[in-house]
Amino acid sequence: MNVSIYRGTVVYAAEKERLAAFSGANIVVEDGFVKNVLKQVPEEYAGLTVKDFGDALIIPAFSDLHIHASQYAQRGVGMDKLLFEWLRDYTFPQEAKFADCRYAEKVYDALVKDLIRHGTFHASIFTTIHTEASDILFRKLAERGLYAYTGKVNMDCNAPDYLCEKTAESLRDTERFLLEHQGYATVKPILTPRFAPTCSEKLIKGLGKLAKKYACGVQTHLVESIAEAAWTKELFPDYSCETAIYEQAGLLDYGPSVFAHVIFPAREDITILRKSRSVSVHCPDATANITAGIMPAAALLKAELPVAVGTDIGAGPNPAVYRQIARAVQLSKLKAFFEPEGNEPISFAEAFYMATKAGGSIFDRVGSLEPGYRFNALVLDGLADDFSEMTPEEQLERFCYAGDDRNIIARYLDGREISP
Ligand code: GUN
Ligand code: FE
Repeated sequence: MNVSIYRGTVVYAAEKERLAAFSGANIVVEDGFVKNVLKQVPEEYAGLTVKDFGDALIIPAFSDLHIHASQYAQRGVGMDKLLFEWLRDYTFPQEAKFADCRYAEKVYDALVKDLIRHGTFHASIFTTIHTEASDILFRKLAERGLYAYTGKVNMDCNAPDYLCEKTAESLRDTERFLLEHQGYATVKPILTPRFAPTCSEKLIKGLGKLAKKYACGVQTHLVESIAEAAWTKELFPDYSCETAIYEQAGLLDYGPSVFAHVIFPAREDITILRKSRSVSVHCPDATANITAGIMPAAALLKAELPVAVGTDIGAGPNPAVYRQIARAVQLSKLKAFFEPEGNEPISFAEAFYMATKAGGSIFDRVGSLEPGYRFNALVLDGLADDFSEMTPEEQLERFCYAGDDRNIIARYLDGREISP
């Protein structure tokens, strides 16, 4: 057995209401899993060297459940547009470039490095409609051992000609992608219909059959703007709500279902999301930038829906999930201020929980540092001032608001130290 011990201030969120913090703690890692967090090193390990990080924080690595890998190349651009104009003017032309695998190689390489740099080791990622380029991302994630779901995008209507698939071809390419990416340890394929307006009913039903055949989950965007929700209603008049489109196709039955944004859910959406244990993903920067809405995060948490955090690169400009933790708190306060009915601010602990353990729940034992979890962890330093005392919780909050990747002095994935 391979045992390592790390000493520092261990902070994680085992439950959404509060952070657990242990100063001067020894975290015992056996074969890549947390065995225990202890004040004293047990007698049986007396001969081992302890890697001592002093007062530094040791926290779980982040989970980003909504990223568009291709849009890494356009992050921070076109941010004065709303969703449909942003798609037309920036995003669709950008995504078309991924027909060229050499281009995909460069962008995906940079993205994967940046995820590691910012401590995102668990992610759910869209690519583009292109199967070959999607394979490049899949292999890069697998080579680095990151925990990820990723899928090629489907869209067969209401998209520009240069990016619009034929329904049968879209299903055939998706099946090929699923078949070619079975059996990887940490990366798994996921069905990725872009959003309801760019998918025909026939396509969504076809994806439902693939979900069953390959026991596969789904990721998409859900009720993300008033215009999108209204358009979807017009295109799918026979469904009680947007989530029902995916539910009735059998897309919520086999793997994780991951829905980005969930800003304007109807009561029926919430009922289906709860029943299917689907994860709603809060991407605060992105929705402020291009969909001009704020997820009712406190209300969804109160309805006992799993809620995670996403950067939504490139509608969100920043690959740092920790910054989205801060934004989630900020925007919940604005929402509660402008729409007090049914909305409340969320706490820092809730937002941190969403970005670590809740997002990690679609993978296997990641997102916390409780015993039994994988030692997927970050070590953070340089967050306290020498002129005042700060609690570990305060230092973690400061990291999310004012820190950056320079504060991350070590990164562990399955107990192995990694670097970008
Ligand atoms: N809705 C449809 N496509 C997209 C996209 O690429 N990003 C976001 N944020 N919303 C979308
Ligand atoms: Fe998105």
